[in-house]
Parts: sequence; structure tokens; C-alpha cells
Amino acid sequence: MEQRNEPMNPPAAERKKRILSGIQPSGTPTLGNYIGAMRNWKLLEDQYDCLYMIADLHAITVRQEPAKLRAQSLQMLSLLLAIGLDPEKNVLFFQSHVHQHAEMGWLLNCFTYMGEMSRMTQFKDKSAKHADNINCGLFTYPVLMAGDILLYQANLVPVGADQTQHLEICRDIATRLNALYSGVFTIPEGYSPKIGARVMSLQDPKRKMSKSDPEDCFIGILDTPDTVRRKYRRAVTDSDAQIRFDPENKPGVSNLLSILCALTGETMESLVASLEGKGYGDLKNAVTEATVETLKPIQERFGQFIGDKAYLESVYREGAQRASRIAERTLSKAMKKIGFVAK
Ligand code: TYM
Repeated sequence: MEQRNEPMNPPAAERKKRILSGIQPSGTPTLGNYIGAMRNWKLLEDQYDCLYMIADLHAITVRQEPAKLRAQSLQMLSLLLAIGLDPEKNVLFFQSHVHQHAEMGWLLNCFTYMGEMSRMTQFKDKSAKHADNINCGLFTYPVLMAGDILLYQANLVPVGADQTQHLEICRDIATRLNALYSGVFTIPEGYSPKIGARVMSLQDPKRKMSKSDPEDCFIGILDTPDTVRRKYRRAVTDSDAQIRFDPENKPGVSNLLSILCALTGETMESLVASLEGKGYGDLKNAVTEATVETLKPIQERFGQFIGDKAYLESVYREGAQRASRIAERTLSKAMKKIGFVAK
């Protein structure tokens, strides 16, 4: 893990390295979100100084129904707590509660080129999906995301593989500002799991599993055991009936194997060896069982948190205050360097 620049305040020697990551409250998170990102957030909470954000400003780059957005945002916070994130150790907050995100987004927009944004594959995908609403926010989304990361002088950003390009542009923007003004931002590194950085759709295993796709394509973290079983039973495989890890030629089977590996911690070799001579039904049963076992304790804890509005409020209020203090330091520093008159 390479690090190129240390934050000025507080001195690096006095604190752990910092993490910032986020998730959009645009639906119930999938098993892909969990394996690719959220699970690592929990694993890293002791080693790093962590901030985890519910990216609600990002969510409105596609049209959202207000009541649903509010409900999904609180649901997401409950899920972050349910996966075990301790709000004392981790700063958990809503992006919209920390106004510095929008302000930093504007500053960085003025240092980012149209050509850079038009190369973003997620913009191309999303604008094809939402052809009736190709708004400017969707176009400059990676700039807002860069601001999210840079505001906290994050060293590490645990994300799934689909965010790699956004992280690269974040590094480019930070490097550009540092070259112009020197020492503004820490240059962050990405962090993705070896297995499960890209969990694929159950119906179209050449595409990533996404919470905005039709129900049968993904496992939702809150899916009941029966739903999980049904979805895996219907998952696309192939006709050669051989259990082998070969993402190019056997994407469906390889995806199920990856999920099973990620959830059980087994190596691919030993997993494939243990399934020798067995059929796809056995593989689907095994992945169903592992998924249900993983989700059960999360769902139980979720049930407790979602009903406790006062507790959720105390968590997100405290989170916003803590996040805002750090964000303000970076924003003021950047504004001063750029040449604004100090308040
Ligand atoms: P979002 O909400 O799409 O996804 C949240 C996290 O889940 C990962 N992920 C996956 N990992 C493996 N397989 C999949 N099928 C899969 N689908 C999603 C994503 O890579 C991500 O890590 N732009 C971000 C949110 C964001 C952010 C940030 C992240 C806003 N600001 C700053 C990091 C730092 C997004 O839309 O994630």
C-alpha cells in the first residue's frame, strides 16, 4: 500500500491511518455490497481511524421518491450497525449532513476536465439506463466522490472493483491540486478483497450484481431464507454440468463459487476439490446455506436497530459533528490555498 503524502493536521505520527468509504442509500444493499465493501469496513475498524458515509447526495443523481429515500437512508444506517460497525470506533454519518461535501465538490469541479468525466464507464452505463435524466450531477458524480475522500485526508478507501476508476480520478484530481498548491490532500489508495471484489448478477453473470436491477438478479441483505433459496435455484449456470472456476467460459458457476469462497473463507482450490463429482444443485445448496448463515445475525440485529429511531438519531447526529470537524479543516485549508479571503 503506497502512500505519497501525509496530512498536515493532525500529524500522522499521532494517529492511525484513516479510512473513508461510502454506500448509496438507493435500495437495500446486496450481497455484492456486503462482500465487496461493507464486510471489509468491519474488518478494518480496529486498525484504522474509520469514517463510513451514507452517500445520500450521490443517490439523487437518479430520481428518488422522497419518502423512500428517507426510509432507505435510515435502513442503511441500521444495516451498518447490524453488520457490527461500532459507532464509537467508526464515524457513521449522512453525507448531506456535512455541508463541506457539496462545497468541496464545487471546488474540485473547477479542477476537473470534461474529457476526464466523459471517460467514466459508470456514467456511460447509468446514462444508458436513465436516458430521460442525464443530469449534470450524474456527469460530475466522481468529482463529488473525490471530495468525499479528500475532505478526510483518507489513506485507504475500501471499495468493490466497480469503483476503481472513480478512485483513480480522485487520485488524479488530488495530485493536480497538490502540484498547483502543494500539500493540500493525502493521496488515497484503494482496497478491494481478493475474492468478491466484483460479485456478478445471478441472471446475467457477465454484469455486476446491482441493487437497482430486477429482484431475481441479486441477493438482498434482508432477503428471507426462502427468497435466497429461490433466487439461487433460478441463478443462471450453463449446460456442461462441471463445477470449475472459469469466469470467462462459465461465468454463472464461477460467480457462485466466488460467493461461496468469500463467505466460507475457503480457498478456491479446496472448494472446487470438495465439490468434485457433485452437481450444480449441490453447489446451489451450499451457497444458499452459507448465505443464509451469514445474513441471519445481520437481519436479527437490523430488526433491533431499525425500530430505535432515537438511537439512530443520536448516532447520525454525533457522526455528522465528528465528520464535520475534520472536513472543515481540509475545506478551509484548500480554500486558503486556492486564494479565498479567510472568514
Ligand atoms: P455503491 O452504493 O454502488 O456500492 C457500495 C459499495 O459496494 C461495492 N459494490 C460491490 N462490490 C462487489 N460486487 C458488487 N456487485 C458490488 N456492487 C457494489 C461498491 O464498489 C462500493 O464499494 N460511489 C459509491 C459510493 C461513494 C463512495 C464515496 C465510496 C460515494 N462516495 C467515497 C467510497 C468513497 C457507490 O456508488 O457505491
